[in-house]
Amino acid sequence: MRFQTFLLATISLAVSINAYWLEDITHQGVAPFAGSGYSVFRNVKDFGAKGDGVTDDTAAITAALNTPDNRCLQGCASTTTKPAVVYFPSGTYIISSSLVPPYFTQLVGDPNDRPVLKATSGFQGFGLIDGNPYYTENLNWVSTNVFYRQMRNFVIDTTGIAPATAATGIHWPTSQATSLINIEFNMPTDASTVHVGLFIESGSGGFMSDLTFNGGATGASMGNQQYTMRNLVFNNCQTAIIQLWNWGWTYINLQINNCQKGIDITAGGSDSLDVGSITVIDSTFKDTPVGITTAFESGSSPATAASIILENINLSNVPVAVQGPSGTLLAGGSATIAGWGSGHQYTPDGPNTLQGTITPNTRPTSLLGDNGNYYARSKPQYENLAASDIVSARSSGAKGDASTDDTAALQSAINSAASGGKVLFLDHGIYKVTSTLSIPANSKIVGEGYPIIVASGATFGDMNNPKPLLQVGAKSGDAGQVEFSDFVVGTQGPAPGATLIEWNLAAPAGTPSGMWDVHARVGGFQGSQFTVAECLKQPGSGTINSNCIGAYMLMHITASATNLYMENTWLWTADHDIEDSTNTQITVYSGRGLLIESTVGNFWLLGTAVEHNHLYNYQLAGTKNVFASMLQTETPYYQPTPNAIEPFPVVTALQDPDFTSSCDGVTGNCANSWGLRIVDSTDVFIYGAGHYSFFNNYSTTCSTVDAGENCQSRIVSIEGSSSNINVYALNTIGSLSMLDHDGTSVAKWQDNVNVFPSNVILYRTG
Ligand SMILES: *[C@@H]1O[C@H](CO)[C@@H](O)[C@H](O)[C@H]1NC(C)=O
Ligand SMILES: *[C@@H]1O[C@H](CO)[C@@H](O)[C@H](O)[C@H]1NC(C)=O
Repeated sequence: MRFQTFLLATISLAVSINAYWLEDITHQGVAPFAGSGYSVFRNVKDFGAKGDGVTDDTAAITAALNTPDNRCLQGCASTTTKPAVVYFPSGTYIISSSLVPPYFTQLVGDPNDRPVLKATSGFQGFGLIDGNPYYTENLNWVSTNVFYRQMRNFVIDTTGIAPATAATGIHWPTSQATSLINIEFNMPTDASTVHVGLFIESGSGGFMSDLTFNGGATGASMGNQQYTMRNLVFNNCQTAIIQLWNWGWTYINLQINNCQKGIDITAGGSDSLDVGSITVIDSTFKDTPVGITTAFESGSSPATAASIILENINLSNVPVAVQGPSGTLLAGGSATIAGWGSGHQYTPDGPNTLQGTITPNTRPTSLLGDNGNYYARSKPQYENLAASDIVSARSSGAKGDASTDDTAALQSAINSAASGGKVLFLDHGIYKVTSTLSIPANSKIVGEGYPIIVASGATFGDMNNPKPLLQVGAKSGDAGQVEFSDFVVGTQGPAPGATLIEWNLAAPAGTPSGMWDVHARVGGFQGSQFTVAECLKQPGSGTINSNCIGAYMLMHITASATNLYMENTWLWTADHDIEDSTNTQITVYSGRGLLIESTVGNFWLLGTAVEHNHLYNYQLAGTKNVFASMLQTETPYYQPTPNAIEPFPVVTALQDPDFTSSCDGVTGNCANSWGLRIVDSTDVFIYGAGHYSFFNNYSTTCSTVDAGENCQSRIVSIEGSSSNINVYALNTIGSLSMLDHDGTSVAKWQDNVNVFPSNVILYRTG
């Protein structure tokens, strides 16, 4: 007896020592506009949840989510002022009705022993987690405005619900800056099962990774504008994936095992296809009768809908790889599909109808990880570290209150964490910074529920003398590795000279630097001084309010930088005010989005988006070796009133586009922001892109087939000495030309009509 007691004590001691550091650290994040006494961090056990596999924990967890009772739920459009990180220690939590996370909530489980959310047999609700409830016939939040939430490290279990009773694991109609990571869905495997693991009916994502679906009628049933999804495993599902609708979707490292069907893109049927396209790479299908099933056939409509790219797919006992309505489009077996496509191609001229084998991209070795697949790395959660390995920004003297100048305290915390080999924890807050923060090699910075660092004041006030807010690697030639996750950068008040992130650092080959769930947000939130009060939209007014110039550039990757992996990064100049009860539109001007001018190259952009920047969203200049999955952009809604010529003068050293000269002779709204501009660059591999121009002068009339998609003249440009540019699944909206090469339109929207965008499934410079 005594011996056993001693053993148990030892075990429980070991368990408590090994709790995830996020559980053990002092919780001192602040939300400056939430009122006094507001706690950002909540441990569900502090609210009475037991996690014992017996007690119904629904009410306790709901209290942890909703406290205080005015968080953003029914009737609230959105907010950044009341954030929460809701932590679940390991255990089995019994759930009898949906858990509904309010806006701006992260749910985090212990990654070392993932908590299980287990539904009772009589479970009520649409999803164990309902990320956007139907209190009425409409979703509570407009799904394209659901940002800044995530859920990671959970097991979702519906096996207690009768197989033939409808059950959904997670309902998740959301958009940019959201993620589901490291979640397992367990569902019944009975033939009668109707369970669905993940259900998404709308939104503008996004990114997810490391999800496993076991059993169920459908692993994931999803409709959304676009997504990158990586490391999704489906075991014993009847159908792994049903695509309800999309504009574009990129799957990387899907593993579909012993399902009846892999991916079903038949939605809408041949007369009215709902799925724009899918791109599947580095994936395996095993013991599954049909890999992909489509309703595409000769004469189906819209013309380019249900387009497909497959590259590096292994089949093992998959008799039919692609099944059409009247037969096999691509035979299966046990084989590797090096490359196959269906849709419209330009190589470089077109359109030509493609249905068959394609030459796969010749991948640069420097972009590869294991087995010839592209390199990728999931967000580090530092699960082996202890609380003593974490340096807190607030304990280091930073206030995060949106008004104190935190520059010195943050710089000192950054330096001591990097030199001490520790992780800097950016406790939630709004950190005001008045001069450049220098980020040395070896820095690891992790935010608590998306804190924001804002550039403020005179240092950032001169567009003729721009300064970085975060400078990664102090100067050209600095070498080493840096990791950022879960935080936001922005500006406070006019900042025409702010470059939010300048990346100079060269990481060693094989150990790239990384950014995961790191975002830019310029304007549209309390504390930014670019809200409805200051920057309400003024349709038709070409007058530029200098108080609403938000940034010079959102991110600049400079000549000497190399080896940077970016996953789920959204560089957003706000089009609306997140705090406003009707999400009223605002006009904020940021000069440039993401510029990559690294001469060495080696960049991975997975699930990145850059929106509403004035001259361009993405520009690659003099670079090479770039892998991108699902680039996504939007043109500023105010353009062309004013157009892109004012107020940011052309900076030749940055290879800015010069609209005054390049628009000569071009009809329509030519001086509008580029979605993507590629200048003098080589070896670029784009796996899905959506470049959208919805508005002219705040009106969407232009972005329709009837209006002739004439919001702007051009949106993607390849120029100069660029070569070996490869684009799969290019989608555009509202642009007359889909792609230009050296000032000449290559592809026109009306030749490639898809579900809502136009689509070219394969473009190569040749
Ligand atoms: C497919 O199989 C080949 C040969 O075994 C291997 O080299 C390749 O890495 C595999 N691809 C994937 C995506 O698993
Ligand atoms: C822009 O929109 C406003 C409001 O609808 C309208 O009054 C104005 O004429 C428009 N301007 C242009 C140049 O289209």
